[in-house]
Parts: sequence; structure tokens; C-alpha cells
Amino acid sequence: MILVTGGAGFIGGNFVLYWLANPLAEGIVNLDKLTYAGNLQTLQSLEKDDRHIFVQGDIGDYGLVLSLLKKHQIRAVINFAAESHVDRSIHGPGDFIQTNVVGTFNLLEAVRTYWVDLPQTQKQEFRFLHVSTDEVYGTLSPTDPAFSEINRYEPNSPYSASKAASDHLVRAWHHTYGLPVITTNCSNNYGPYHFPEKLIPLVILNALAGKPLPIYGDGQQIRDWLYVKDHCSAIRRVLEAGRLGETYNIGGCNEKPNIEVVQRICGILDTLRPKVSGSYADQITYVTDRPGHDRRYAIDATKLERELGWKPAETFETGIQKTVQWYLENQEWVQGVQTGAYRDWLDQQYQ
Ligand code: NAD
Ligand code: TYD
Repeated sequence: MILVTGGAGFIGGNFVLYWLANPLAEGIVNLDKLTYAGNLQTLQSLEKDDRHIFVQGDIGDYGLVLSLLKKHQIRAVINFAAESHVDRSIHGPGDFIQTNVVGTFNLLEAVRTYWVDLPQTQKQEFRFLHVSTDEVYGTLSPTDPAFSEINRYEPNSPYSASKAASDHLVRAWHHTYGLPVITTNCSNNYGPYHFPEKLIPLVILNALAGKPLPIYGDGQQIRDWLYVKDHCSAIRRVLEAGRLGETYNIGGCNEKPNIEVVQRICGILDTLRPKVSGSYADQITYVTDRPGHDRRYAIDATKLERELGWKPAETFETGIQKTVQWYLENQEWVQGVQTGAYRDWLDQQYQ
């Protein structure tokens, strides 16, 4: 079996569904703390699938992690668990340090304890795949080349700094203890089951609710968008054939300014769910910028393509169409996440 951490979140949840869609796939032990971002409704279709074992718990719980590794004879760990929202890290960085830094440290220690005692063949085959972000590289000017794996780490937000710290720990556990690790650094994901605090789902749901569509600053910040299923296929490929101790950048070659992303969503909604009068774009509202807001992220994923033959299947145009359609068709999931805690966050962030 493999151990997936954070598998009730956006990317982890998509990964669990993607992996188990293959009838021949190994089973998954899914360890998730179920913070506000974790949602078992995402995994509802697996309720009767014996290959999925869900455990509510913390990656920082050394004893729990070690017992799960031993009990299920885990052959690979994929670490998705993290605090992941930049705006929340600005309001309260403590949880980010606790989970992303201290949690990753405890997870690595539990894995190391388990791994050193494995028989030789299993020891060689074992993998620890750490899922990270392009935000560790900092920000780019409009003319800079895209981030490659040899860019310096220059994180600018409490979130990206905590992810950068976790990447360094993972690297050190390889160089010092020989732990068989691989790290992936991916650009912004979007797609089904995305928690609506992030730009794309927030805009879709606010548009449908007749609320303002908040654009931070001038809306010219650029992100490199990747459809979440393409991220999942990249992770599976890296786990299968990635070289130990290496890092692989994952990206969609889809650089877009935020305002263009929001206008595109409005255009799709105008066609699929037209308003009585006017366009959803009329709801666009410019608001105060995020402090320390990174201007541009762009990923050079040629190493992954050259070494492992991976390419994304979706363009931004096809992926965003599927995403908007998914939100329109999955109102039950949407209502499930729009709890009191979610509404409190919107009040705090957007007053
Ligand atoms: P998410 O916030 O949607 O999900 C995180 C999950 O981790 C939740 O289910 C949460 O309950 C769980 N979790 C949090 N703290 C935990 C802990 N201490 N122990 C166990 N579980 C815990 O995040 P996401 O967007 O799915 O991101 C997953 C990973 O991918 C993160 O490591 C993130 O840094 C990375 N990443 C995200 C993006 C993106 O665009 N969302 C891009 C690149 C990399
Ligand atoms: P987000 O989805 O939070 O991802 P990240 O900060 O990790 O890139 O934001 C994507 C971009 O959209 C980012 O430049 C911030 C911007 N943004 C807005 O303009 N308005 C919003 O309400 C949100 C949540 C984000």
C-alpha cells in the first residue's frame, strides 16, 4: 500500500480518486487531520472501496505515522498535507510553521525509523515523495525566464517560506540519512473539489451568488495554471520513475494575468448560465492588494518532460471549461463546504 497524507484536501483528494480509478492500483492509507480544508465528501465515491483506508490524524504525530507505516507495510509516502492558503498565512502564520515545518520534520523522522529497518529490497524500492510549490522560488519580472529546478529559493510569504523550509528538510534527510526522497514543485492548480477560498472557485461561486468578484491590486499578477488531474499524472509518473534526491518542476505552460482568468470564467458562465441582464464581468471589483503579493510565477517543466516523458493533457481553455461545468453540476459538494467557518473567513478577508 501507499500512504497519502492530506488526501481529503483539494489535490490530495483528486490524487486518491485518480490513483484508485485504476482497478490494478495498490491501496491507499489516507492520513488527514481534517482541518477546515479537508473534506470527506470529496471521497464519498470510495465509501465501499476496500482499497481506501481513511485515518484522521496529524502528520506531526510520530507514533501514529510509524504505526500506520508498519501495520500496512507501506512502500511509498506521498506528502500532500499542508496549510496551503497564502492569505491565511498572512493573517496567522503559526499553523503553517506547525504543519508545514514541524509536521514535515516529524513525518520524516517516522518514515526514517520505519525505512532503516526494512529488508534490503524493500528499502531500495521505498519512496518518499514530497509535494511542494513553485512559490518557494519567489517572484519573476515580466521578462525573466520561467523557474527551473536550479533557481534560488526566495520565498516571500509565510506560506512559501514554510514550504521552502519543508523542502530543505526533505533534501537534508536524503543527503544525511540516505532517505529515498523526491520533491516536486508545482504551479497553481485548479479543477474539481477546490476549496472556494482560492481565486478560481471563489470567483465561480461569488459570480453565481451575485456577489463582487474581488481582484487584488491591478489584477495583472501572473500565475501558471495547471489542471489538477495533470498534476496527479505528473506525481504518479515521478513516483514511478523519478530519480532519487532530485526535484522536478511541474507546470502547465499556461501563464495568465488574474484579470484574464476572471474574465474567462465570466464568459463561460455567461454562456452556460446567462444572467437576466448584463454579464458576470459586471461584478468584478478591484480591492486592496495582498501584502507582499508575488507578481509572476512561471514554471519551466522541461526536465520532467525530457526525463520522464510527462506532458499536461489539458490547456487552460479546456481545463477551465471543465472546472466551471463541474461547479455547476456539483452544488451539493459546494453547499457542504460553505459552512459557518467558511463564511467567517470571507467576512474576515473581504469585510
Ligand atoms: P488543501 O489546503 O486543499 O489540503 C490540505 C489537506 O491537508 C487538507 O485535507 C487538510 O485537512 C490536510 N492537513 C492539513 N494539516 C494537516 C496535518 N497536520 N496533518 C494531516 N493532514 C493535514 O491543499 P492543496 O491545495 O490540496 O495542496 C496540497 C499540497 O500541494 C500542499 O502541500 C501544497 O503546498 C501543494 N501545492 C498546492 C498547489 C495549489 O495550487 N493548490 C500548487 C502547488 C503545490
Ligand atoms: P490563490 O488562488 O490564493 O493562489 P496563490 O496565492 O497561491 O497564487 O490566488 C491566485 C491569484 O489570485 C493570486 O495572485 C492572488 C489573486 N486573488 C485575487 O485577486 N482575489 C482573490 O479573492 C483571491 C483569493 C486571490
